This record gives sequence, C-alpha cells and structure tokens, in this order.
Amino acid sequence: MVLEVEIERILPGGRGLAHADGKTVFVALAAPRDRVRVRVEREQGNVLFASIVEIITPSPVRIEPPCPYFGRCGGCDFQQLTYEAQLAAKAEMIRDCLQRIARLESVPPIVVMPSPNDWRYRMRATWQIDQEERTIGYYERGSRRVCDVVDCAVLRPELQAKLEDVRATEWHEFPADLKHLDVVAGENGVSLAPRFSEFQTDELSLTVRGEVYHYNAKAFFQINPLLLGPLIDFALADASGASALDLYSGVGLFTLPLSRLFRKVVAVEANPTATHFARRNLQDAGLANAHVITADVASWFRSAPLRDVDFVLLDPPRAGAESAVIKGILDLHPPQISYVSCDPATLARDLRKLFAGGYRIESIAGFDLFPQTHHVETVVRLTA
Ligand SMILES: C[S@@+](CC[C@H](N)C(=O)[O-])C[C@H]1O[C@@H](n2cnc3c(N)ncnc32)[C@H](O)[C@@H]1O
Repeated sequence: MVLEVEIERILPGGRGLAHADGKTVFVALAAPRDRVRVRVEREQGNVLFASIVEIITPSPVRIEPPCPYFGRCGGCDFQQLTYEAQLAAKAEMIRDCLQRIARLESVPPIVVMPSPNDWRYRMRATWQIDQEERTIGYYERGSRRVCDVVDCAVLRPELQAKLEDVRATEWHEFPADLKHLDVVAGENGVSLAPRFSEFQTDELSLTVRGEVYHYNAKAFFQINPLLLGPLIDFALADASGASALDLYSGVGLFTLPLSRLFRKVVAVEANPTATHFARRNLQDAGLANAHVITADVASWFRSAPLRDVDFVLLDPPRAGAESAVIKGILDLHPPQISYVSCDPATLARDLRKLFAGGYRIESIAGFDLFPQTHHVETVVRLTA
C-alpha cells in the first residue's frame, strides 16, 4: 500500500510521525515537515510502519545524506537531518518521553549539548562479520545481513584505519566462529576483542578531566570522548555529602571523580573486566576510599543493603534499571540522585517510579554522544 503523508515530528526511536486514513504512520528516515509518498511495510494494530518511496516536498531541515551506505546500513538513521535539526529532534524525544511515559505534567526546557565533532567522533564500535558472504560492517536496517562497509564516516580516524587493516586480512586468518569484533580506541592505540591474527586486546588509556582511565575492548567505555568532561560535570554538579553509590559503574568513569567528592564510595558493576580496570584506575589515582563490587546491581541490592547514602549515580544499559534496583534506591532514600541514560523511554519509565517515591527534577540536560543517529544521552538530577 502506498500513501501520501506529511511528517509531523520525529518520535523517540527516530521514526517520523504521520497520520493517514485514521491510522498512525511511522516513517523511517524522515524529516519533520517532509511531504512524502511512503510504502507500508508492516501493520500493527492502528500503526502502519512505512518507508519513503518519493519525497514530494522536502523538509526545510532535510539534507542529502553524505554516507553512501545511508538507508541500507542500520547505523546512522539521522543523516537526512541538518545537525541543528538532529539536536532539536533529540530534545523533543526526551520531552515526549517525560510527558507521555513519566507522566510529567510540566516538562522543563531541554537543551541537548552538541558534539564538537558530528563526524569521525566514534571511539567504540562492534563490527559484524559474515565469513560466508565475506562482508564486514554493521547490520543492515531491520535485518541481520551484514552491510559491507569500507569507510564508516562516524569512526574516529584511528578506528577507520583499524577497520581497513581488518578488511585487508586474509579470510583464512579469521577464526571460523568469529561473528563480530568489539573495538575501542584510546590515546595510545586501538584494542580489539576477541584477539586474532595480528590484532590484540591491548590495554588503552584516556584522560578525562585530569583522571586517567585504563580499559580494553572487553569492558564498556563511552562512545564519544568529546563530551565526557561536560557529561561528568553535569551529572556530579552539586553532589555533596559523605557517601555515594555508583551503579553500573564500568571502569569507573564517575567513580574516580566521586571519590574526590565523597568520603566513601561504593561502585557496583557486573563485568569483571570492567571492575578490574576500575580498581586499577582508583589505585593509580591514589584513591583508597572507593570499594568496587563485581555484581549484578539488582542481586547486590537484595543481598547487601547500605544505609545513609547521600548521592546515587546510576548509568544503566539501554534497558534501564531493573524494578528491584529502583526499589532498592527508593528504600535507601538518598537526598540526591543523578540518572545517566542512553534511552529516554526506559529513563522515563524509571523516573515515573522515582517521582512516585517523592523525587523531583532538579535539572536535566541532553548530550549528543551519538551524532547522525537518533540516540541521545540524558542526565537527570533529582532531589528528594
Ligand atoms: C552505560 S554503561 C555505563 C558504565 C559507566 N558508568 C561509564 O560511564 O563508563 C552500563 C554498564 O552497566 C554494566 N551492566 C549491565 N547490566 C548490569 C547489571 N545488571 N548489573 C551491573 N552492571 C551491569 C555494563 O557492563 C556497563 O559497564
């Protein structure tokens, strides 16, 4: 079925919203105020999922996507928007989630801080490998087929060079079961996991706001180094008291600065490689007042409750915090919470529970850690 629609706005998740024949239409790779002819690919209840077959009148914020893989590669779904329009769409997504999912009646104004580089910013990636098809790159949009990518325009130059090295490797050197590679860059090189051929899981380091972080490709590290200073500054602004809790703490991005602000810090993280690096990072910094625990946060809350915590920082993966974690935080009742999130929808779901527990928003900001994609990092500071 082909329809003609006008895109009203961009929704959380990145699709354009339109209406036709009493139905809601979600349009991929759209720009607000595009007038487009779309083909309906899937119907779910009253919602039609569609893709553009013809742009009748382009949006004033539509631009020609510069990447030759745009539309096929599942990676960057915002290249059709000017960078200013990407930032505006992200602010609108956060607002939408806070209003619709968190049920916040009066949403404070939201500003999304731009990335200093909107291309060649990415210092972490996962490259998919299909040895039968001999393709290396990212999953195609809506599929598990690997889009063969020669040049990825959002990768930092050192990662792009490493992609070229991997692509130049003879196929017989790839382990037979190798389906993807995790790669991360640092100030002193690039680390790959798993290691194979000449490629090593090297230990790297990066300095942010004077703190030195060691990590490798087996532990989480943030994708965009350029905004990490402002992200930490905002998340920890006004944080005060004697004791702090850092949940989903990775290699200690927030644990180190928290250890300078609080007498006692407890950090909880499930990945043992990450906690190994977090302990080492604290030790190298001469910070002995933080205790790093390798555990699933929900299980840890069930078994080892703390008391008298003044500040909780949580930075969960995209799925957000488990109900047991939100309940654990509410039981602790810290005067201040900083919620760092890479998904405004799960953030809003969790905020609704925190609002019901008596918290209110002190301040909120977006950080564009992921230019050219619909993803956005949000930090919400809450007070009891
Ligand atoms: C978004 S990252 C944040 C890491 C760190 N705060 C940072 O900024 O670098 C989320 C972290 O949560 C960890 N994680 C995921 N699920 C977890 C769980 N159920 N319990 C504990 N840690 C978990 C991941 O290994 C990852 O390090």
